[in-house]
Order: sequence, then structure tokens, then C-alpha cells
Amino acid sequence: MTNPRVLIVDDESDMVENCARILGRAGYDCLTATDGNRALRLLESDRPDVVLTDLKMPGVGGMELLRHARELDPDLPVIVITGFASIESAVATVKEGAFDYLPKTFSISQLEVAVDRALRQRRLTLENRNLRGQLQETFGLDQLIGRSPLMTRVFELLKKAARSEANILVLGESGTGKELVARAVHANSPRAGQAFVPVDCASLPENLLESELFGHEKGAFTGAVRSKPGLIELAHRGTLFLDEIAELPLGLQGKLLRALQERQIRRVGGTSMINVDVRVVSATNRDLREAVTKGQFREELYYRVNVIAIQLPPLRERVGDIKLFAHAFLKKYGGDRNLAFDDDALAAFEAYAWPGNVRELQNIVERACALADGPTVKRRDLPDYVLEGEPLRVDGARGTPAHDSQIAATSGLPLPEARERWMKELESSYLRDLLERHGGNVSAAAKAAGIDRKTFHRLVTKYQLR
Ligand SMILES: Nc1ncnc2c1ncn2[C@@H]1O[C@H](COP(=O)(O)OP(=O)(O)OP(=O)(O)O)[C@@H](O)[C@H]1O
Ligand SMILES: [Mg+2]
Repeated sequence: MTNPRVLIVDDESDMVENCARILGRAGYDCLTATDGNRALRLLESDRPDVVLTDLKMPGVGGMELLRHARELDPDLPVIVITGFASIESAVATVKEGAFDYLPKTFSISQLEVAVDRALRQRRLTLENRNLRGQLQETFGLDQLIGRSPLMTRVFELLKKAARSEANILVLGESGTGKELVARAVHANSPRAGQAFVPVDCASLPENLLESELFGHEKGAFTGAVRSKPGLIELAHRGTLFLDEIAELPLGLQGKLLRALQERQIRRVGGTSMINVDVRVVSATNRDLREAVTKGQFREELYYRVNVIAIQLPPLRERVGDIKLFAHAFLKKYGGDRNLAFDDDALAAFEAYAWPGNVRELQNIVERACALADGPTVKRRDLPDYVLEGEPLRVDGARGTPAHDSQIAATSGLPLPEARERWMKELESSYLRDLLERHGGNVSAAAKAAGIDRKTFHRLVTKYQLR
């Protein structure tokens, strides 16, 4: 653990030195400033844990510093030093959010007690926030289901990788558990006590995503009525989770790369650099190496985020885990009904190819729990396409069931014509299935199909899928 950092600000350098000596002896790292401007810069670049400031200083005064500190980090305790004459203004600073105030004539122990209390308060706030996070969900390794050899190897790698400070890239098809693994990396890392900050790189247009990531200063653009720290800043000393990193626009890739190299960021519209210490875990279901070859992803960023790659196998390659998952989800969604599967249902699960991986299995078990009449989940509680057995593979992972009836319907036709009919049938049910899976969301379905939205839309119209 590093020592807690105290920023000491006073226009009298004797005062600053005295405080630094006392607090240095007490085990704090002291940052010092004899004017408000330098203090503001240190505040941003060095992220102290406590600020101790004189109230009356020429130029940027204690009050302004306090406001700025609170804006930067509402949990940063600020202790104001004031002469007895200005006790009223001291009270005013407390109303503005100062943690405490000290008279100029403070004793050594008064100073030590005040700083210690401020730090303890800060620690409590941070801990509470973390606990709250953990109560919602814990992401220990024990939360990860899987005993198959492939997954056992993944867990071994995860444990070692988490302990290191290396940036990690989690790869795998949709629904294979990438986010869960990213959270487990954080929970098993030395940074577990700090923030885990997820960013969905696919969710926002470039300019919005930039100000989300890097933050912005007041007035940086229309609507920026107050300054706001970015997600990278919020992940300081913790883990930044870049989900769907392949979708990060090229321009932002460059900016992110620079931030990671220099360990500093500048808010949009800001002038000063802010130090950031983040560990990056990224995830994608795309082939990032290929994106690099195609010029869609910056090679240097690729190497920077991919120090250790964790590849999650598709569920169909860990058939041994399917029952394990099914039972775990049955417990989760069955509540206290004490449900069980019959053998046929389990056999159907193991025969199915699970294009949507663990998430699909989870949804189907949830649905089955709702449909099951008695204490047993039966085959009939599963959707037809699961029961139709090995789906015909189309486009690698995804599949649609082949229908014998389709073959029968075309048996009288010449092969080229029959083939055209099959293709149309397959294509339309493939698209319908994809649309269903994405709740009718054309953009998401198009993305999953790997074609652009317009093309997808045209096909939807062609096959009258709406
Ligand atoms: N090994 C596992 N143990 C327990 N639950 C799992 C496991 N893998 C996945 N899940 C569950 O499956 C669901 C999908 O997982 P997750 O969201 O992590 O997938 P993903 O790979 O991020 O998918 P996408 O690419 O679509 O974002 C979640 O509800 C998750 O809790
Ligand atoms: Mg995900």
C-alpha cells in the first residue's frame, strides 16, 4: 500500500513546511503548494487523498480550491485552516462541503487528528461504495461455473493473469461469459478494493463516447454546464473494462492509446493533464487481429490491451459443462420449487449447438421454469428449435434447423432451382431467428450477422419478416 497523500496549501511557506514535517513524520506523503494555481494543478495531476488549505490566499483562494476539489472528487475531504477572526467564513466553507476546519494556532495533535479523521472518513466512504457493489453481486472465481478441461484451463490462466498488472483481452463469442470473466479478473486482482468501471464502446457515437471516457470541462461544448470526470479518471487505481473494444472508433483508439502510454489524460476542453493509473481489461466477440489487418483497429493499441488473452470457448465445445449450467440456472430461476430435469430434457440440451452460448442456455432454462407444470422440467418445456437437435450450421456459429419438409417440397425440382429455394428458406429463417434473439432490434441483429444495417433491413423487407 502506498502512503496516503496530503496536499498542503498556504501562501506562507513556513506554515506549509511545518505541516509537511509533522504529517511526513506521521507517515503521509505530502504535496505542497504556496499558491492556489499550483494547488489546482496538483489536485488534478496527483490526486491527493486529503487537502489541507489556508482560506485566505492571494489569487485562487481556499474557497475556490474547495469547490474545485469537490467537483473533481466529491469524496475528497478538504480541511480549511483559518484565523479566529474568520470563524464565520470557516463555517461557510463547511456548508460548501469542507470536511473540517482548524484554527491557525492548531497544535500538532490537532492537526494529526483532523487529517486522520478525514482519511478514515474517506476510506469508509470508498469501502461502503465497494461493499454496496459487492452485495449486488460477487464476482469471485467461485461464481464461475465450469469443470470441463477447457474451462479449468481458463480459470488457471485467469487466476495468474488477475494477480499480474497486465492488461487483459477477453475473447469469445457472444454469451460466453466475457463480462463475468472481466469482473472476476478485477475481483481477484490487487485492485479489488478499488473501482471496476465498465465502458460499452459500442453504445455511443464518437463525440459522446469521448467525453464519457475522458470527461469534459465546463463549457467544453454546448450543454456542458458543469465539468465532469471521465470514466478513465473514475477507474483511477482500479480496473477499466472496455467492453466491445473492437467497436471503438479509430479516432478514439489513438486518444486511448496515448492515455495508456502516458498514463495521463486531458478532459475535453481542459488544459491540464490528469495522472491516471488504470488496469485495462477489454472484451470483444470479433477477431481483433483481423481488424488490425484490415486497418480497422490500431496495431499499437492491440498490443497494449492484449498483453494476456483469455479465450472463452463456445459452449458447444464444453459439452461437459452444459448439465452443470442447466442445474445452476434451474436453481436460480426455480426459486424454492425444487425443480428437476427429466433425462430427455438434459439429452436435448447436450445435443443442441447453443449459438447464443451460456446466455441462451440461461434464457431457455428461465423460460422452462416458467412453463413447467409439476416438479419436473420436461422436453416439452423447451422451445422447438432446441429439440430439433443438431442445428444446421450456417455462418459458423449460428444455425437454423434443417427441415425435412423443405427437402420434400423441392424434390421434384432441378438442383439449381431447389438450391435457390433452400437458400431463400434458410436465409429467411436465419434472419427471423436472429431478429427474435435480439428482440426485434435490427441494428443488433445486423451486427450479429456481420452485415450493415441497411442490407439487413433490405432482407427483412424482402422476406417480409416484420
Ligand atoms: N462460467 C459461467 N458461470 C456462470 N455464469 C455464466 C458463465 N458464463 C456466462 N455466464 C452467464 O451468462 C450470461 C452471459 O455472460 P456475459 O454477459 O458475461 O457474456 P458475454 O461474453 O459478455 O456476452 P456478449 O458478447 O453478448 O456481451 C450472464 O448472465 C452470465 O452471468
Ligand atoms: Mg458482454
